[in-house]
Amino acid sequence: MSPTPVLRQLTDIDDLDRATALALLDRAQALREVAGGRAPALDTLAGRTVVNLFFENSTRTRVSFALAARRLGAEVVDFHAHTSSTAKGETLLDTWRTLHAMGTDAFVVRHADDDAVAALAAAIGPDVPLVNAGSGRRAHPTQALLDALTMRQCLGDWSGLTVTVVGDIRHSRVARSNLKLLRLLGVGALRVAAPAALHADDLDDPAVQRFEQLEPALAGADVVMALRVQHERMAQGGSPDPAAFHADWGLTTARLARAAPHAIVLHPGPINRGVEIASEVADGPRSMILAQVGNGVAVRMAVLEALLAPAPR
Ligand code: CP
Repeated sequence: MSPTPVLRQLTDIDDLDRATALALLDRAQALREVAGGRAPALDTLAGRTVVNLFFENSTRTRVSFALAARRLGAEVVDFHAHTSSTAKGETLLDTWRTLHAMGTDAFVVRHADDDAVAALAAAIGPDVPLVNAGSGRRAHPTQALLDALTMRQCLGDWSGLTVTVVGDIRHSRVARSNLKLLRLLGVGALRVAAPAALHADDLDDPAVQRFEQLEPALAGADVVMALRVQHERMAQGGSPDPAAFHADWGLTTARLARAAPHAIVLHPGPINRGVEIASEVADGPRSMILAQVGNGVAVRMAVLEALLAPAPR
């Protein structure tokens, strides 16, 4: 098996250099059988406790971090903000202090605030193992890693790939982390496509081609990553009409025909069928959506191992 990289915290893709990102992807690839439950669990993290601190809803990320920790032999504590003392006014930092005082080892944090995970990292210092499981619009580094792994498994090295990210770019931490990671890995070409109101000014990067129409952005693409409209991050009344959005921006089989013949479709989930993606595409032969989910467990195992394995620090 490939060696375990060493990492103390993963708050954003900026915490990774190219060698560490590649080492995490190689390690995740090597862990796939265990991650998929097809090989026995490991005991690498026996005696360690991982806390899932989720202040925002999640299915994939929360469950896959829990499975990843268990398949490495760790104990898992699942914290749910809505049934916790957060509802009585306890802050994120005081919640962390409370759980840390119980002898826990690593923290996986999701929060609706863009800066919450970075602020927590600054407050607790660099020696506490911490992973960002999605912070507002800012970052979702393990999603970007699992997306990159899925691309490499399907299409090989990223250097020849054209990747088109389409949908609500403005509110997407997935888009931000993917663009950072794919640039770090040396992707061939990056495109973002959205209606003008859903583009992001902070992603005004000359290395990223911006499109305000879907069809030209799909032309010849090797990877098409669809993103849902993040209504929860929009002002009331600011959401586009779902049917109108689908008419102009929905990924359909007819539109996908413009992409390369071998093109794959990714989506971080949850999908909104008939809005950003048609069921015929989500369930079709090019869809790698469930492969992404499976890779999520492997990538999160690799990250937890890197944070907690008893390697020299
Ligand atoms: N992709 C992703 O983060 O999904 P969840 O919100 O279900 O965790």
